[in-house]
Amino acid sequence: MDALLNTLFSSEEEELYVLDCLSYLMMAMALITFVALLFEHVPYGRYASSRFGFPVNVKLAWFVQELPSFLLPSSLALWSSSSKIIHLPNQLLLLMFVCHYMQRSLIYPFLIRGGKSTPFISLVLAFVFCIYNGYLQGRYLSHYADYPADWVTHPCFIIGSCMWFLGWIINMHSDHILRNLRKPGETGYKIPRGGMFEYVSGANFFGEIVEWAGFALAGQSIHSAAFALFTLIVLSCRGMDHHKWYLAKFEDYPKSRKALIPFLL
Ligand SMILES: NC(=O)c1ccc[n+]([C@@H]2O[C@H](COP(=O)([O-])OP(=O)(O)OC[C@H]3O[C@@H](n4cnc5c(N)ncnc54)[C@H](OP(=O)(O)O)[C@@H]3O)[C@@H](O)[C@H]2O)c1
Repeated sequence: MDALLNTLFSSEEEELYVLDCLSYLMMAMALITFVALLFEHVPYGRYASSRFGFPVNVKLAWFVQELPSFLLPSSLALWSSSSKIIHLPNQLLLLMFVCHYMQRSLIYPFLIRGGKSTPFISLVLAFVFCIYNGYLQGRYLSHYADYPADWVTHPCFIIGSCMWFLGWIINMHSDHILRNLRKPGETGYKIPRGGMFEYVSGANFFGEIVEWAGFALAGQSIHSAAFALFTLIVLSCRGMDHHKWYLAKFEDYPKSRKALIPFLL
């Protein structure tokens, strides 16, 4: 991988500059996405449309599109001159990212029950994002991020790591509740009950937002903050859309349930 990186960048300063620029660009993309999502749903799942390309099997789509966010950081840490990977804070932060994407690409897709096919353009956009973000987080944490030796005992790292873990558990538990709403062969929708769904319609999204906010708090970098912001915007819009969709579809939908943030929103 070093040979490839050496052909792309003439110095470490140049690569770090590019990583910073990619982070600011991701923040700008998050704001543009927010405006776009005021007019259009994120086009997959219940909002899938043929306007966004031919349908791709949902399990294949999730596996392919998420895989770069698992493979790229792992490869960068293992097979490139990752000078910072010997430090514990870098190892732990990279582990958080890789664990999430190992579950998301290698386990989650094969548990899906009756999911709608993914439009091809939606798959391509997610695939490109996962290459972009996998390189951004993986390269920054393995080769550039500089933390004090005792960073893992800093309150920001401890609170951020706990948020990451709690958010991940909420996310996986909520996805588990959703897929168990369907018996094998079913494709329709039911009212989710239990866990964080008692409080919000977008319980899986709430978990993932908390997860990456915790990662950004523990990582204290523009790179992790950009990803947390992107996740916040995409998943809060999807959570709000799902909430409106449930209220329109089910007359007996729990009236006290919020869209995304328990008791508030
Ligand atoms: N970090 C990011 O930026 C990002 C972006 C997108 C997604 N994600 C994560 O990826 C995961 C999946 O996202 P998603 O948008 O596909 O979530 P979703 O819309 O909640 O759907 C998840 C799965 O559950 C099924 N499902 C949803 N509601 C259901 C109901 N009421 N009854 C029966 N089945 C139901 C869906 O089937 P259908 O396909 O038939 O709707 C789909 O297979 C989540 O954990 C999310 O946090 C992360």
